[in-house]
Amino acid sequence: MKILVVGGGGREHAIIQKLREDPRAEVIYALPGNGGIARHALCVDIAAADIPAIVSFAKANAVDFAVVAPDDPLVLGAADALRQAGVPCFGPGKDAAAIEGSKVFAKNLMKKYGIPTAAYEAFQDLEEALAYVERCPLPAVVKADGLALGKGVLICETREAAREAVRSMMEDRVFGESGARVVIEEFLTGPEVSVLSFTDGETLAPMVSSMDHKRALDGDEGLNTGGMGTVAPNPCYTPEVAAECMEKIFLPTVRAMKAEGRPFQGCLYFGLMLTADGPKVIEYNCRFGDPETQVVLPLLEGSLLEILLAVSQGRLAETQVRFSEKSACCVILASRGYPQKYDKGFPITLPGTEADERVYIAGAVEKDGKLLTSGGRVLGAVAVAGDLPRAIERAYALADRIHFENAFCRRDIGKRALEALEGKN
Ligand code: AMP
Ligand code: GLY
Repeated sequence: MKILVVGGGGREHAIIQKLREDPRAEVIYALPGNGGIARHALCVDIAAADIPAIVSFAKANAVDFAVVAPDDPLVLGAADALRQAGVPCFGPGKDAAAIEGSKVFAKNLMKKYGIPTAAYEAFQDLEEALAYVERCPLPAVVKADGLALGKGVLICETREAAREAVRSMMEDRVFGESGARVVIEEFLTGPEVSVLSFTDGETLAPMVSSMDHKRALDGDEGLNTGGMGTVAPNPCYTPEVAAECMEKIFLPTVRAMKAEGRPFQGCLYFGLMLTADGPKVIEYNCRFGDPETQVVLPLLEGSLLEILLAVSQGRLAETQVRFSEKSACCVILASRGYPQKYDKGFPITLPGTEADERVYIAGAVEKDGKLLTSGGRVLGAVAVAGDLPRAIERAYALADRIHFENAFCRRDIGKRALEALEGKN
């Protein structure tokens, strides 16, 4: 089979390496891919959001199956365009991708179908939003409606901060059209859990749970980033919590999307908070998480390609989705300065790896046979082991064998998960 993967980060590197394990994957194209992916796939210089170019490439090269990984092409309708051109595709169409593309849509869906989430109000009028800020409970969480590179959420302790957040989004349009509407919601507390799932619109198969670390610095200090590391499974996500989420959140969401005439086919990501009142949805994503995928897929047993094909053909119910009982940890090595300004172009020295170790490249280009840094998040060092403490130790040991100038990582990935584990024992 000729397979096309749209995207070019660490998540796509993990997806491609896993797809490669299936002998049916003869050729894999990555659009645009990156310097690390180039070792496992044929990278083609087409941007992930250039839908006409993606479709032409797929047709010209007789691609048998496409996987659209990032949010922006999905929200723009890349999966629909590929399917319309006769290319079978894993990923939700535009109507279903709205579950991530519009927070107002997602919140209204949850309200209509009784899916637990933070209480909220949605606004498209600046004056009405500002009036609500004068009486809403504090802290208030102000969210831009559309995609904002993970930066469109502001937690405001004071009315002044909330006013400023609303003005920056709706008036100054710091996130462009994404801020034309805002959601102002109740502040929740509790451990966060990410659950990725496969769904074909009818059946849902959850993947192993995980925990992301979004802030740049140790102790959850510093700015929000795309994610500085992950562990799986997430010890806060007990079998009882999992059963409750399945009954009150996962299945109701799949049914709600179907009832709305927007059946969701692809990877549906549940960002959950385990509050004193039970699990609640913080956000939905219409795609694999990054860097959650880097710890989830190494634990998947069997063929990823088979599952993605089954999802796209509506036969997930007949397909096995199994995960190993092991644990995994991913430590992101970033360029000093990220998520703000940073330098690039430094050579990366990669060590040899053992069977249970992976290096997933996120931001690097290949030049004259050398790998050079090209992004803020440069790579993920991943280890799989029999238990979480060992997976964390080995991921750090691997990270410490990788070198490039200006590299930094958080030193406490998995610390909260270990504390939760100790609390259980
Ligand atoms: P999001 O971009 O929607 O994932 O939000 C980024 C982060 O903001 C989440 O991972 C949470 O830590 C935090 N957050 C979002 N919504 C809430 C909320 N209602 N209460 C508390 N924290 C929140
Ligand atoms: N790691 C969070 C996300 O992929 O949105």
